[in-house]
Amino acid sequence: MYNYALIKQVNEVLKKNKLDLLGKDNSFYTRFIANISSIHSLYLELYGLHPKKDEVFLQIIQSIANTYVNRSLDLKKKDLEKAEKQHWFLSNDIAGMSLYVDRFSTNLRGLSSKIDYFTNLGVNFLHLMPIFESPEGESDGGYAVSDFKKVDKRFGSLEDLEQVIQSLNKKNIYLMIDIVLNHTSQRHEWAERARKGEKEYQDYFYMYDDRTIPDQFEQTMPDIFPESAQGSFTFVPACNKWVMTVFHGYQWDLNYTNPAVFREMLAIIFFYANLGVDILRIDAPAFIWKQIGTSCQNLPQAHTILRLIKQCVQVATSGMALLGEAIVAPKEIMKYFGTDNFVAQECDVAYNATQMALQWDALATGDVRIMLAAQKDILTKPYGTTWITYTRCHDDIGLGYDDSSIVEGGFNPYHHRIYLKNYYSGNYESSPAKGALFSVNPKTQDARISGSLASLCGLEKALEVNDKREIDYSLKKIVLMQACSFFIGGIPMIFYGDEAGYTNDYSYLNDKGKSYDNRWMHRPVIDWQKNERVKVEGTIEHQIFFATQRLLKLRKDLPMVADLKNLTWLNLHNIHVAGYLRTVDDKKLYCIFNFSRKASYLTWYAFKEHGAVPTKLYDHWQEKYYTVGHDNEYLILESYSFALLEVQ
Ligand code: GLC
Repeated sequence: MYNYALIKQVNEVLKKNKLDLLGKDNSFYTRFIANISSIHSLYLELYGLHPKKDEVFLQIIQSIANTYVNRSLDLKKKDLEKAEKQHWFLSNDIAGMSLYVDRFSTNLRGLSSKIDYFTNLGVNFLHLMPIFESPEGESDGGYAVSDFKKVDKRFGSLEDLEQVIQSLNKKNIYLMIDIVLNHTSQRHEWAERARKGEKEYQDYFYMYDDRTIPDQFEQTMPDIFPESAQGSFTFVPACNKWVMTVFHGYQWDLNYTNPAVFREMLAIIFFYANLGVDILRIDAPAFIWKQIGTSCQNLPQAHTILRLIKQCVQVATSGMALLGEAIVAPKEIMKYFGTDNFVAQECDVAYNATQMALQWDALATGDVRIMLAAQKDILTKPYGTTWITYTRCHDDIGLGYDDSSIVEGGFNPYHHRIYLKNYYSGNYESSPAKGALFSVNPKTQDARISGSLASLCGLEKALEVNDKREIDYSLKKIVLMQACSFFIGGIPMIFYGDEAGYTNDYSYLNDKGKSYDNRWMHRPVIDWQKNERVKVEGTIEHQIFFATQRLLKLRKDLPMVADLKNLTWLNLHNIHVAGYLRTVDDKKLYCIFNFSRKASYLTWYAFKEHGAVPTKLYDHWQEKYYTVGHDNEYLILESYSFALLEVQ
């Protein structure tokens, strides 16, 4: 759509910056002109009736132009390289690790000295958990930010961060950090000024004089942390008002009905982009728009905000991809990739939280039917977008997949979820897992699960009683879980410590700022003496590290693993075995996983249902060849084992 007035406005803003619009800045200019209409209409969808809409819109255009002007030549070059690769983040070459800087390497300077550790493991993408200023004791692991531009002194300084980014660049390691879009800490300057009574800043939040509106909201808003933070509003005595606090009482929700809030947060997004962030993790995007009478999650306007951000980023800092951290119902997650005219034009990346939880489900039951039943939604992901695939992260495991998948898998949803919760929280005697229930809702009995990969796979319990057989099983489970998520398509994200078999750490119970939140049990403090053992053959640490390293290396060598909408699930032939086929050009890779504690048999017929029938397969994991047998013959998979079979 051509809008004369709008293009004129853009040109006027650009005239003030000395840009070479037909030369070196031409691709920026073309992007701007190409996107400005949709930027404008998305903006009007949100703010069309706001009295300050024109003023703020102009500021946004200026901000886009300034961000581009201030972007370093190196980053502009990188933007171009990424554009030429097209969807650079779909590659099978990328593998990530997510870590807390202080718990991993004390501070940012320490992190630079660990780069060889990452490259040795095969990690070339880092997610640094929040590093911007956040008050000790009320920080929610850094997700309560009091200054979006100041690195918290616990980690170092902005200069240290810039130094780290340079070191990562030299080694071609990509970087992801968070933008905590939904809320600020109650100690953020905007919150402090609101508390002091400044109306301008009170309008940055949802603040009310009495309980009338909060009560209306709360009728339909679920509690996110029902054990530690009941209700969605907190009373602020200093200004005698109620403020919306969906997460903890110290995290004040930003009010995006105010365009000034959008403008401010966009500027912070641009600030991170110009630091050199490759993927920006948008924290909790499901929550950014609120409306009385709804759950205040996944509302259409939240998607409009994300689309608007995407369009602006595409113009100003085109190489930075966006990840939407939407840990919501499977059908809702898919919408964060964009719908209708915005398919693949919203978030480029999302967490495959559904698959993650389904793998934990299959591991607990030894039955893959629910996992298979739930794939229909996951498979609708559009081309050009990708997943973060993972088994564990800093958060809990939610069992949020649809009841209908559980029913289709042959189970009763209510009893099945109780079983899973008991299995992983130690309330089921014969379970090898050691975890805990997180955020139990007394009204609904809903709960999520905390615990480290190793502990949930049984390593902690097995070590306690020094049971060699169980230790062995747990190691096999750890590798099975990682393998299933590494090859399924998307960017694998290892949670730090899992590569070296860290079990739960209960020391958080002695810290007042953490003891109310058992997610800290799976956020270890790295003991580098323990990690040294990854080099010593025969140790548990070495076995897990070596297997993880091998898997990552294989992934990089197998082009079929790139996320090109090239995944087909195999039909079910054995309830313990899940398999998917990955293809690119004429290359095919069958990935087969046995979730059972016993050996499982898979008919060779399973390999004959998808195009040309293979005769010979090479298992990259066991390094051996198979001849595809008759339909009444079987591929035999040992307990908790898997095969990565390339068609020869
Ligand atoms: C995200 C984070 C989680 C945090 C929440 C509130 O879900 O992953 O750790 O508690 O947002 O910011």
